[in-house]
Formats: sequence, C-alpha cells, structure tokens
Amino acid sequence: MIYERITEELKERFREAWAVAVLTGAGVSVESGVPTFRGGGSAPVWKGLPVEKIATLEMLRTDPVTFWQWYAYRREVIEEAEPNPAHRAIAAWERHFERLTVITQNVDGLHQRAGSRNVLELHGSLWRVRCMRCGLKSEDRRVPLPEIPPHCPACGGLLRPDVVLFGEAVPEDIFSQAVAATATCDLFLVVGTSAVVYPAAALPVLAKQNRALVIEVNPEATPVTEIADVTLLGRAGEILPLLSPPENGTG
Ligand code: OAD
Repeated sequence: MIYERITEELKERFREAWAVAVLTGAGVSVESGVPTFRGGGSAPVWKGLPVEKIATLEMLRTDPVTFWQWYAYRREVIEEAEPNPAHRAIAAWERHFERLTVITQNVDGLHQRAGSRNVLELHGSLWRVRCMRCGLKSEDRRVPLPEIPPHCPACGGLLRPDVVLFGEAVPEDIFSQAVAATATCDLFLVVGTSAVVYPAAALPVLAKQNRALVIEVNPEATPVTEIADVTLLGRAGEILPLLSPPENGTG
C-alpha cells in the first residue's frame, strides 16, 4: 500500500512495536550530501570508469592508484558530511524500543556518528583498512591520506579499505546476525535502498515471511514496494522524524 502521508494508525503501530530492524541504503545519507549508487538518473562514474569497475579487487591489483583515488575522494566527501535527521531519528529510536538493530549497506559510518550503537555494517566501513599482505585490520580516519595507495604500518604491504568490493561476499557472521534480527523483529523498516543488491535485498522478504510489519521509506517505488505493508514515498530525513514516538518513551 502506498501512502502519501503518515496516518495516526500507522504511528500507533510503529510506537507499539517491540523489536525493530531498520535496513538502510545509500538513500538515508543523501540528505547528508553523500551520493547514491542508483536512482534519480545518476550513474556514478569516476574518471570515465563506472563504479562497478573501480571498486573491485582486480582494480586494486592492477591500478591501486586509481582505486585509492576513488576511495580517498569518497572519504573526503563523507568526512565533511554530517548525520541528517533520518540518522538522528533512528539513533533516538534505540531509547524507545526494547530492541533496535540497524542493518546498513552504507560504509560511511553516519549511523554511528548520529549515536546508533547497534549497527551491522553489511558492506564494511570506509574508516577501516586491511593489509593485503599480513591481514592486519585497523581503524584509519586520515583525510587526506598521506600516500596513495596507502601501505601497512606493520609490514609495508598494500592496504585495502575494509569494505565489500563488487564481486565479493558479505561477511557471513554479520549477515547471519542481520538474518537473526530480521527474522525475530515485529517491525522492519527499509529506508533509502534500491533493494536490488543481494543478499541485503532478501531481508525485507524474510521479515515479511516472519510476519513483521514492513514499512518502506523511499522517494521512488522499488522491488520492496510490492511486498511492503506500507510504502511512504518521500525523503528519509523528512519522513522518519514524523514516525518518531514521543521522546518520553511512554508513547
Ligand atoms: P542505491 O544507490 O542503489 O539506491 C539508493 C536509493 O535511495 C534509491 O532507491 C533512491 O530512490 C533512494 N533515495 C534517494 N534519495 C533518498 C532520500 N532522500 N531518502 C530516502 N531514499 C532516498 O543504494 P543502495 O540500495 O544502498 O554495494 O545500494 C546497495 C549497494 O549497491 C551499495 O551498498 C553498494 C552498491 O553496489 C557495494 O558497494 C558492495
């Protein structure tokens, strides 16, 4: 069902939920100034190369400079970005619901910066790096990077961002936690994702099979729209604060 506005009945069902899972995609960070991968007619291209070609292991191996220039650029954009009202609303919900799990496909860290603590990063984080030689993982928030490509402080090997590149699998442990949160929630929100990239795209279906109320928030219809109980057409930063239960938590 597509709603143009939020009804009192929907607000009540939202408020009375117990265990909530929120699946987010690039759209939740749009109002922070972070571009999406799809939608709105945009086709991300960097130096004439589509992102699906750059953000790959093959590119890192054959042209680490171009690969890292793209990631350095993304780190610069995201470092300047601030969490928006959508990130902040989701973070505040942790205080209201018995359980709230954020399952994000984003690598920008904006949910955590807004205050969310229970965040499953399906596609990793731009703010962690991993050594291709010794496997050392570390947090790395340097912007700009002192060298491109960056090298491991321990062994001098080439570093990679600790993100899921195109063609790579989502980490199994994180995904199984996401499946558990999805299968046991009574309210599942899908915010700002085109819902075409698997395995994340399977989660709304799983939530629905387990009888959660599925609410989608997106300015455009997506494959989730067909199975969602409610689709709220609009921008996450405008809609999510309107769903928020009163701050005193008593509803
Ligand atoms: P997409 O770029 O595919 O989709 C972004 C979605 O956000 C679209 O459906 C837009 O309509 C919606 N959107 C735009 N502005 C919005 C707003 N203000 N509020 C709410 N929604 C808005 O992004 P994802 O679905 O996150 O994976 O993409 C999934 C994965 O595809 C990414 O994580 C990335 C890419 O391949 C990897 O890099 C592994």
